[in-house]
Amino acid sequence: MRVLTGLQPSGKLHLGNYFSSILPMIKAQNESDNEMFIFIANYHAMTSANAGQMLKNQTFELACGFLALGIDPQISTFWLQSDARDVLEFYWILSQFTPMGLLERAHAYKDKISKGLEANHGLFSYPVLMAADILLYSANAVPVGKDQIQHVEIARDLALKFNNKFGEILTLPKAKIADDIAIIPGTDGAKMSKSYKNTIDIFADEKTLKKQINAIVTNSTAIDEPKQWQNCNIYALAKLFLDEFGQEALKERYERGHEGFGHFKAYLYELVLDYFKQAREKYNELINNEKMVREILNDGAAKANKITSDKLKEIKDLMGIF
Ligand code: TRP
Repeated sequence: MRVLTGLQPSGKLHLGNYFSSILPMIKAQNESDNEMFIFIANYHAMTSANAGQMLKNQTFELACGFLALGIDPQISTFWLQSDARDVLEFYWILSQFTPMGLLERAHAYKDKISKGLEANHGLFSYPVLMAADILLYSANAVPVGKDQIQHVEIARDLALKFNNKFGEILTLPKAKIADDIAIIPGTDGAKMSKSYKNTIDIFADEKTLKKQINAIVTNSTAIDEPKQWQNCNIYALAKLFLDEFGQEALKERYERGHEGFGHFKAYLYELVLDYFKQAREKYNELINNEKMVREILNDGAAKANKITSDKLKEIKDLMGIF
């Protein structure tokens, strides 16, 4: 099965990103019946207000982060959206098959303009670029968050419309939503998200990491009292790093009393550092080696282009492009 997903560079990678999207991706990568395609959607990111040097930095940092966390460019095809330009050409072709009404009904577009983003053509046609991404690689499955399901359905609709006219050229993609993935709570207990400023960042320096963990909101049970792990944000996060025995042991520490939340925060800090030790080292190595990362991305783009160029040629022929 060909699995394709794109992620926008939009800030520092945090535990929420890791447990809800990156870890499942790495697991899928290591299953031999999957062919993984993973790219950084920097052209999509242009539609929110972070173009310029900031976009450049965030793109590079995300590439380093993915590689450090275990995206293996030998196994997966890993590239930068802006390096694989056939998709842009196909985006124009696909636009001829895109009814205005379909785009006008897109929730993400409506949400964004209601939040004050300028209603320009880039934002409006965002789902067409995404459909081009998906369809030109003939992806079968597209792992996405709930907010992106409609976009995958739009891709499917466009493929159907195209195929109705030209035969079975495009593969119909399916959104793949992992339903066993819990929502990762942020430091305030709401879903961990950059926009809520409640993240714990995987590659933050130790001081920042400590500060973020210390900011976890707890109740005010006195230090000697037994504590409830059931509704504790520290426990909910620590649990992600622990096996069954580790979880039981931590529950016991809560129930025993005589330890404050400060102790549990210090424990979580150790767990995070320990779990990401190798990744953090690799990240620092990559961050200081832009040339190497650039080469990895170039190789990825070459692999991606190999796949898209034949498909695009077939499509251009059908379109009558001389
Ligand atoms: N729109 C997606 C998001 O914001 C990113 C994306 C772009 C994507 N192209 C894609 C995801 C193709 C899956 C497949 O999350």
